[in-house]
Amino acid sequence: MAKHHGLAFAIALMGAAPLAAVAAPGFSLTNQCPASFEKQDGRCRLRTPYDDYASLTGAGVGGLKTGLPPVRDGFTPHEIDLGRLLFFDPALSVNGRVACATCHSPRHGFADARPRSHGALGDEVSRNAPSLWNVAFLRRFFWDGRAQSLEEQVQGPLYGRREMATSPARLVATLNAIPDYRRLFSQTFADAAGGIRTEHVYRALAAFESSLVSLNSRYDLYAHGISSALTREELEGLNVFRSFVARCAECHTPPLFTNQQIAVIGMPDPAGRPFDAGAGALDGEPMRRGGFKVPSLRNVALTGPYGHAGQFATLRETVAFYTGGRGHAVPRGEHLRLHWHIWEPKLSEQELDRLVDFLRSLTDESFRPETPRRVPSGRPVPD
Ligand code: HEC
Ligand code: HEC
Repeated sequence: MAKHHGLAFAIALMGAAPLAAVAAPGFSLTNQCPASFEKQDGRCRLRTPYDDYASLTGAGVGGLKTGLPPVRDGFTPHEIDLGRLLFFDPALSVNGRVACATCHSPRHGFADARPRSHGALGDEVSRNAPSLWNVAFLRRFFWDGRAQSLEEQVQGPLYGRREMATSPARLVATLNAIPDYRRLFSQTFADAAGGIRTEHVYRALAAFESSLVSLNSRYDLYAHGISSALTREELEGLNVFRSFVARCAECHTPPLFTNQQIAVIGMPDPAGRPFDAGAGALDGEPMRRGGFKVPSLRNVALTGPYGHAGQFATLRETVAFYTGGRGHAVPRGEHLRLHWHIWEPKLSEQELDRLVDFLRSLTDESFRPETPRRVPSGRPVPD
């Protein structure tokens, strides 16, 4: 007995000194996958009840028991957790003032509460910050769809003068000068021992963003067969949403509530701002002039103001746009090729209210990741 105790004591002592030394900096990465992910061979794979449903064919665009588009998963717990620290760290911007989380705040559905965001140098960007919930399912990024991957996308805000305004050289110099980051990156990436590179930063951020999954709203319970999950008003709203009159589900297709296409619908720009040609500005293609990516409506109740430039303050105003008449807000002199599902559905005031009720049932933040209290740079974490 005594012998055993002695051994246990010796082990405890041996463990004590290094443990205290490692614990001092306070930054360690988790080995666990986020909720709703399962660890397989060290990588995190998403599991949702939608895995049991077939793909987008067969059930019609408004069908509830349809599968999700392919997901970007398979990151390690370390990549995801390191990405979380980077996402909240203002050291990624030129002057340490703005983090990703400043414009994509967990308090505002991973968007911000402004019509248009403000960058590190105080400039206003020309568009509204989209929510990052469920970006793992997207195949194109930005309102005009100009980036094809999260790694490509992230270089926009990092190096854009109106956003974080840093440069690749400055970014890696800053991170390599922070010993905690050097340690955490080498723990995460086998090839980071010689120094942190931009590709490591892009991948870790992509890993964290891909972990932001919201598929447990009351709508989802309803879709999985729990018919009492929606109120009568919300159900009426869902029926309008799926109807051949309103046609919302043709573009905002469940279960992601976007078909990921670029659509020209003629939503106005805010008063006093120039016409934004959207995807049409990329290649001058007249068919896409005024075209924007159909946004997912997941957690939409949390992410106002709405539209590509935050032109609508409330969901009610946004939804009322669709009854204003085809092309009613297109500036004079513009001849947009409006999508054929944009027409005059003549929805009543009551139907518009029910649509808003329904959109609110898409709120789910049950797997919201924890905001770190501190980040390795020591800069204040945006709230
Ligand atoms: C100054 C505010 C600001 C900062 C800082 C910022 N973003 Fe954004 N983000 C935006 C805006 C505005 C857009 C939309 C721009 C557009 O479409 O032209 C956007 C778009 C995105 C998108 C595309 C989402 C979609 O549905 O297409 C992703 C992903 C994203 N940001 C991730 C990040 C990450 C990661 C960081 C940190 C490296 C970051 N953002 C920093 C404002 C910001
Ligand atoms: C033809 C495709 C299409 C149809 C049909 C459609 N939408 Fe949209 N929706 C879009 C596009 C594209 C945008 C972004 C437009 C912009 O910002 O200029 C959008 C934006 C929105 C937004 C703002 C989201 C945000 O995050 O800013 C809401 C809310 C919305 N739609 C709800 C609806 C409802 C409700 C209906 C049915 C009455 C509907 N939509 C029908 C394509 C469509």
